[in-house]
Amino acid sequence: MLCLGIETSCDETAVALCDDGRPILEKLASQVRLHALFGGVVPELASREHLRRMGPLLETLFAETGLALAEVDAIAVARGPGLLGSLLIGLAVAKGLALAAGKPLIGVDHLHAHLLAATLGRDVAYPALGLLVSGGHTQIVLLRSALELEVLGRTLDDAAGEAFDKAAKSLNLPYPGGIYVDVLGRDVEPDRTLFTRPNLDNANLDFSFSGLKTAVAGHVAAHPGLRVAVMPTGTGPIDPGAWPMDLRRVCASVNFTVADTLRVKMERALDRQSGSVATILAAGGVAANSRIRDMLAALARRRGLACHLPEPALCADNATMIAAAGCLLGRAGLTHDLALDAVPRGRKVPWDYRIGPPLGRASVDRRPDPQ
Ligand code: KG4
Ligand code: ZN
Repeated sequence: MLCLGIETSCDETAVALCDDGRPILEKLASQVRLHALFGGVVPELASREHLRRMGPLLETLFAETGLALAEVDAIAVARGPGLLGSLLIGLAVAKGLALAAGKPLIGVDHLHAHLLAATLGRDVAYPALGLLVSGGHTQIVLLRSALELEVLGRTLDDAAGEAFDKAAKSLNLPYPGGIYVDVLGRDVEPDRTLFTRPNLDNANLDFSFSGLKTAVAGHVAAHPGLRVAVMPTGTGPIDPGAWPMDLRRVCASVNFTVADTLRVKMERALDRQSGSVATILAAGGVAANSRIRDMLAALARRRGLACHLPEPALCADNATMIAAAGCLLGRAGLTHDLALDAVPRGRKVPWDYRIGPPLGRASVDRRPDPQ
């Protein structure tokens, strides 16, 4: 089944084609440089950029694959949670294409798609425990199958990505700063008591990262020499060796504090499933963090579980995960009509699919033109 995926929930405009869950090609325009000027995503600008970039990206996707809209079996679109104005652009495009070409429409929960990204090309043993960590969300999710999800824990305030970005901001590092904190903290021994691991003194599976943001800001205010004098441009590779060791140790300590907080709640979630979980999945932009990846791999090893960590490009927002989710939902006969609505941040995405016959034809070899 050939599915077109459209992603516009935040600051990445992306379109991709998947054939029975196998990625064919993705075209993505990142707005990161634009929003970096403001130190965070400006919703109005994001919507306008989605509108401006979407048409050319679609044209290039079809031109480079040699495929046509008429060959697509379904159109999948991220319907939320996300920035409302941004989601509406993706939904309007998806509905227009579905209506014009007479194709089924499939609204995809952006968070479900993030988790499925970790299963791409893999034979996953369920139940799986997913850790979804991004700029907007931090959740522990039990997947009984690829289509049956239960959120076991979530953040009560900031997401893990916000903690990284705000820590970076305190240190005068560019937005989004997670990658800086990760790379600068690599191969440096953290101070494990510098920041308190937040929200562990309870029995639940929820997170709270807003205190960590304040703790890092307070530490930097007390040690102003830690602040980078001139903010780097944010382009090009980061060379950790060129940075002061006291700054790198703070970064290593932030990485440790977030990763170890996530570990404690993941261990607790595994214990509560009484040994039934077979696999650990990681998802979301923060799942690119090397300390968090090492932590999850070690946890899986200790417990004898499989562990699937998507490559960094599939951790961040992308349309391949939306197209892949579309293949799965379409094969199960789950679609939407043209009244499909967007779901803003903070609201639960409803499971409101229409159930019909499975979509699609048998997969055929569809590869992009080699040049
Ligand atoms: O999933 P994503 O691309 O967008 C959202 O849906 O939010 O996640 C973006 C977040 C940002 O907060 C960014 O700083 C963080 O992921 N991030 C990282 C790393 N790479 C991206 N955080 C820590 N370590 C990284 N290597
Ligand atoms: Zn995301």
